[in-house]
Amino acid sequence: MPAPSPQLRPTSASIDLAALQENFRVLRERVGPQVRVLAAVKGDAYGHGAVPCSQALEAAGCEAFGVALVEEGAQLRDAGVRGMVLCMGGVGRHGAEEAVARGLTPVVYDEGDAHRLNAAARAAGRRLTVHLKVDTGMGRLGVPLPHWERFLDRFAAFEWLDFAALMTHFAQADGHEQVFTREQLRRFRGAAASAQRRGFTPGFLHAANSAGLLAHPDSWFGMVRPGIALYGEPPVPTPGLTPVMRVATRVLFVKDLPRGASVSYGRRFVTTRPSRIATLPVGYADGYPRALSGRASVLVQEQRCPVVGTVCMDLCMVDVTDVRAPVESGDEVVLLGGAPAARIGAAELADWAGTIPYEVLCGFSTRVPRVHGGLL
Ligand SMILES: Cc1ncc(COP(=O)(O)O)c(C=O)c1O
Repeated sequence: MPAPSPQLRPTSASIDLAALQENFRVLRERVGPQVRVLAAVKGDAYGHGAVPCSQALEAAGCEAFGVALVEEGAQLRDAGVRGMVLCMGGVGRHGAEEAVARGLTPVVYDEGDAHRLNAAARAAGRRLTVHLKVDTGMGRLGVPLPHWERFLDRFAAFEWLDFAALMTHFAQADGHEQVFTREQLRRFRGAAASAQRRGFTPGFLHAANSAGLLAHPDSWFGMVRPGIALYGEPPVPTPGLTPVMRVATRVLFVKDLPRGASVSYGRRFVTTRPSRIATLPVGYADGYPRALSGRASVLVQEQRCPVVGTVCMDLCMVDVTDVRAPVESGDEVVLLGGAPAARIGAAELADWAGTIPYEVLCGFSTRVPRVHGGLL
């Protein structure tokens, strides 16, 4: 489906690229000039649009980008992004040639991947820089610690691969946890030391996600990899970071209902007073989760109004009875963002929906056009 025009359909997400650039500067200043900052732009830059966001970040001085998939890395190269593009999910069974051809930097944690990358690099006649990943407790990707030394011994055979960096990933992303993150750091240092004993000296180490960057300076090493903080939704309150995404729509229809009238599927909401109900052209097919039914609020004229009844696929209803000025069809309604005093943050929206801000941001569907603006 082609991206819908913001003119035809009023539901859209504005992406403030100047705020993104400023957030990058704030985080870079925080870690200082000795520590590189890799921007996590996987998942279409957490729903913000990987290409415009990476271009804006590169213009602001960002030199490294983290994607999950080879395809995501190729998309950045097609758009002219020149910085290091780290394929954090690895390259899988079929991505080695493409990764080499596109000048991507694969993360390696699997001997089969190392074989395929080595062969692809040899075929291209070009040595390939890779980052090795060790699993210190996330239990997702990475060489399991008990196999680390054996893996290193075998890695020595891959003569076309250069072991440029050693990385790991934290299991805790909320910034408040201390104990397990410290244990992961201890294991990570141990893995680095055993690599060194075997004659590998990676150029640098990296471990920190946003929580590590903001709450654990001892996890910074040579590079940090913030995602959620860059988009202005840090896991711990951080002065200077501004939300980048704002989602708004316009009232489609307004009606006055008597007391005792039911609203939406399942009749889960029944008016307890004469009510003015506005219908909005947004629903779960847009990434406004059904779980928000009867739980979320939106902003109309900077006033919070409750979402009433079940959120439908394309529509939802809000109670605007208490809004001071009359609400009319075409009035703007903010679903995410808004003026600081009344602002609906991704964390709040996530709380209402029983999820996390990451999923809220990534979840707005392709039916919601991203409108990029504010480039410095
Ligand atoms: C390997 C890796 N590094 C960094 C990040 C960025 O994490 P966050 O968005 O919590 O900063 C992620 C995201 O999950 C990741 O998978």
